[in-house]
Amino acid sequence: MAADTGQLAICAGHVGAFGYQPITSATCIGCHDRPNDRHPIYRFREARFRDALDVVEATSCLGFHTEHTDERAFATLDFCQAYHEPLKLNSDPLDIDHVTLIKANAWESGLGCHDFHGNHVHRVPTVVAEAFSADALHDYLKSGPSPYGTTKQYEGKTP
Ligand code: HEC
Repeated sequence: MAADTGQLAICAGHVGAFGYQPITSATCIGCHDRPNDRHPIYRFREARFRDALDVVEATSCLGFHTEHTDERAFATLDFCQAYHEPLKLNSDPLDIDHVTLIKANAWESGLGCHDFHGNHVHRVPTVVAEAFSADALHDYLKSGPSPYGTTKQYEGKTP
């Protein structure tokens, strides 16, 4: 199912997936484990993120996703701040560099360029004006169309 069908894509993938068993991250990973996940939950357990976890608890899929709903994720757009501040790139390809964006507190722009789990075939822009708007991202997280495009590198297993 490569085409983005909004809500349907989410529901269709999960019909019959959950049953009456208690849902844990292991349930999700059973179908969504991928070698290219840029933010797998185990990374958030690293000691250097201990303080960040107090702000945003990211060691469980269920901290951001619910099962049995059409919502893709219920994260705010600026949660990356807890984990990525300070942020300085040795060689910054952006027209307005990351340090400047962060000084302007533009944390919401992160998801405008980066696909959190990195599973879409998507070119990260180098021009900040090309970042997706907060509205488009909120809509996507709710269940709207994907601004990152429709082609995924891996699809979840079908039940
Ligand atoms: C039985 C397999 C299965 C299980 C278990 C499962 N999923 Fe899925 N999921 C799918 C399939 C199939 C799709 C649709 C194809 C795709 O987007 O990879 C999907 C789609 C999704 C999407 C939408 C992806 C997108 O780009 O629109 C999200 C978010 C998601 N799953 C999260 C979860 C979470 C969180 C859990 C655990 C609570 C979970 N899934 C458990 C199979 C599963």
